[in-house]
Amino acid sequence: MDRSALPAGRAWWRGATGYEIYIRSFLDSDGDGMGDLAGITAKLDVLDRLGVDVLWITPFYPSPGKDQGYDVADYIGIDPAFGTLDDFDQLVQAATDRGMRIFVDIVPNHSSDQHPWFQHAIADEDSPYRDYYLFRPAAANGGPPNNWVSHFGGPAWTLDPAGSGEYYCHLFLSEQPDLNWANPAVMEEFREILTFWCERGVDGFRIDVAHGLTKDPEFRNNPQVREVTPGMHPKDVFASFDHVHDLHRPETTKIFETWRTVVEPYDAVLLGEMDVRNIERFTEYVGGGGLDAGFVLKLASSRWEPATILSDLLTYERAALGGAAWAVSNHDQPRAVSRYGDGQVGARRAAAVTTLMLALDGITFLYQGDELGLPDAVLTGVAMDPVSTRNGGAAGRDCARGPVPWDSTAVNGFTTAPVAWLETAPLPESLTAQGQIGEAGSTWERYRAMLDLRRRLPDLWSEPFEIFDRQATSLVIFRGPLTVIANLDDKAFEFVPEGEFHIEFESHAGAVGGDGGHLRIEPEATIVLSRREPDGHALAGLAEVAHGHR
Ligand code: BGC
Repeated sequence: MDRSALPAGRAWWRGATGYEIYIRSFLDSDGDGMGDLAGITAKLDVLDRLGVDVLWITPFYPSPGKDQGYDVADYIGIDPAFGTLDDFDQLVQAATDRGMRIFVDIVPNHSSDQHPWFQHAIADEDSPYRDYYLFRPAAANGGPPNNWVSHFGGPAWTLDPAGSGEYYCHLFLSEQPDLNWANPAVMEEFREILTFWCERGVDGFRIDVAHGLTKDPEFRNNPQVREVTPGMHPKDVFASFDHVHDLHRPETTKIFETWRTVVEPYDAVLLGEMDVRNIERFTEYVGGGGLDAGFVLKLASSRWEPATILSDLLTYERAALGGAAWAVSNHDQPRAVSRYGDGQVGARRAAAVTTLMLALDGITFLYQGDELGLPDAVLTGVAMDPVSTRNGGAAGRDCARGPVPWDSTAVNGFTTAPVAWLETAPLPESLTAQGQIGEAGSTWERYRAMLDLRRRLPDLWSEPFEIFDRQATSLVIFRGPLTVIANLDDKAFEFVPEGEFHIEFESHAGAVGGDGGHLRIEPEATIVLSRREPDGHALAGLAEVAHGHR
């Protein structure tokens, strides 16, 4: 993309469109059933044509794969399953040639238990690596040092396998020991890791569990907010505590201030994954707290509740000051299409919300398959997500992680292996890339036109954000000469614009109708209008909004 066309004074990533690549399931180039770096390179032209500016690639580092790569055994290597450093360099070069940027996923809250640091830490209690992790003496009764729980079930503490009698802390699996960010040596290690990837040409980092990292120095119990009952999903157990001592410590933003000094010479972006659910906390990170932006995770997990979706969007839009990363889906939650009602209905709703997100300042991400309107994958083989496998088959994240359906050959063209790493039901031709790319009226072509809005009309995200009309389930905003109308209601929305206007985009075919100047926005749609008056006086406004839905 030609970024010289962007308004002066904006960080390059603002107004960009990102695309999350869940590498395992994107495209397998070597027939082992697992997606890889060369598979991404092979599809860059498709992503470029779609209008993607930035790729965020999920972890490809050497890893035992207990948490699908979020258990890193070497932060500066490539797992052979995904390729080599040469493959990585080729990908960066190929992306650069197309004007695309690469964000890698960095996992600083924890490493794998197979990382040499942890192996040294358990092999020798006097090793300097012992203090890279959080080892604590047992409680008086011999149990874990405090009441912290793991996101993935059970206590956040496991006994030192070497028999010291101490426990180590892990907010995720026991195979993902938490690093000790109070130890300056850990910062020094990450200074080198960040520099390594910046030197290799990456443009930014998606920071995993950015709200973790630092812990209460006294390791106090978290206040419990509700009873934990047997059989509760680990997510609900986790939510039964107020995480004041294991997450969101004030020291965390200091860490990112140091990271900023490391990445600044490279103009690399720090994009946090902060599970905050709380707007004040969000702004602590992005409002001078070291990070450029943070994901608005709430929107990637909400169900179809238009009033809540709209109010969350507006709350974060106001507070993030451009430092928001918007997405309706990611690899950790059921896909938006399924959360929003599945099939055509879910796809239509996802397109409406995504279009609105493109009209917000910050960076807006698609998750691979959003552009095909993919629903959740249906598992046909064994579950792979530890949230399921370690919790008696509890609902997990595999449904969001099915292989991308490229065509309607075996395994939807994802791999030449007989099965993919995650076995899922084949998808019909109509949901494949081959069935949609270049096909008038397909979801892919609609998304291509949608993403093109940001390039063609940068006013869409950069001109002052003026709310013209706000109802519980609908919103009309002005962006300079552009008008964005989001009707998330289940009834049509009518109004009469003044003067000449042009319909730049509608989130589904036939979303806008009416005659003369009288417009009718169909339910669950977002449209973008422009005013192009000959005297250059762009914004005449809408003469009348017919309040209420009919
Ligand atoms: C990632 C997950 C991962 C977890 C632990 C996250 O938030 O997105 O996929 O399991 O961090 O690393």
